[in-house]
Amino acid sequence: MKKAVYPGSFDPVTYGHLDIIKRAAEIFDVLIVSVLNNKDKTPLFSVEERVKILKEATRDIPNVEVDSFSGLLINYASEKKLHIAVRGLRAITDFEYELQLAQMNRRLSNGSLDTMFLTTGLEYAYLSSSSVKEIAYFGGDISQCVPDFVAELIHEKYKPNQTG
Ligand code: PNS
Repeated sequence: MKKAVYPGSFDPVTYGHLDIIKRAAEIFDVLIVSVLNNKDKTPLFSVEERVKILKEATRDIPNVEVDSFSGLLINYASEKKLHIAVRGLRAITDFEYELQLAQMNRRLSNGSLDTMFLTTGLEYAYLSSSSVKEIAYFGGDISQCVPDFVAELIHEKYKPNQTG
């Protein structure tokens, strides 16, 4: 059975991520979307919230599982016996970081964890979780960036700042 992991921060998941998830789920028998629990960052959504959001957003794709991990991706992949990480490439600006990450993961895992890149659909190439948060923070329209229920959750998070 071909399995892969799609790791990321997903704070929050965008249509760009969902495009990669759908396409990777057609390639692999099981796709595990795994949220990084990064204690150094202060995310908008907790890991539990991000997992819940991802589960809801992928509920129609039966071979997608949602999980979370802490620490190094290679250790998580080794525990779960996963040998392919999927990552999306939006533009050339992503490439340098992604190349470094992929090569580091391959080296650190002694060749056990390889990375497969899917290029993000052009209609989503401009999207990032950080820009979505910034637009929402200033009261802008994010309906073309994230599913409606996610947009509502983001606006709820920012409501106290905007009114108070
Ligand atoms: O959505 P992001 O923030 O671009 O995802 C980055 C992620 C989670 C894939 C990457 O930061 C990661 O795998 N972090 C876990 C720690 C790790 O394994 N680092 C790689 C050592 S070079």
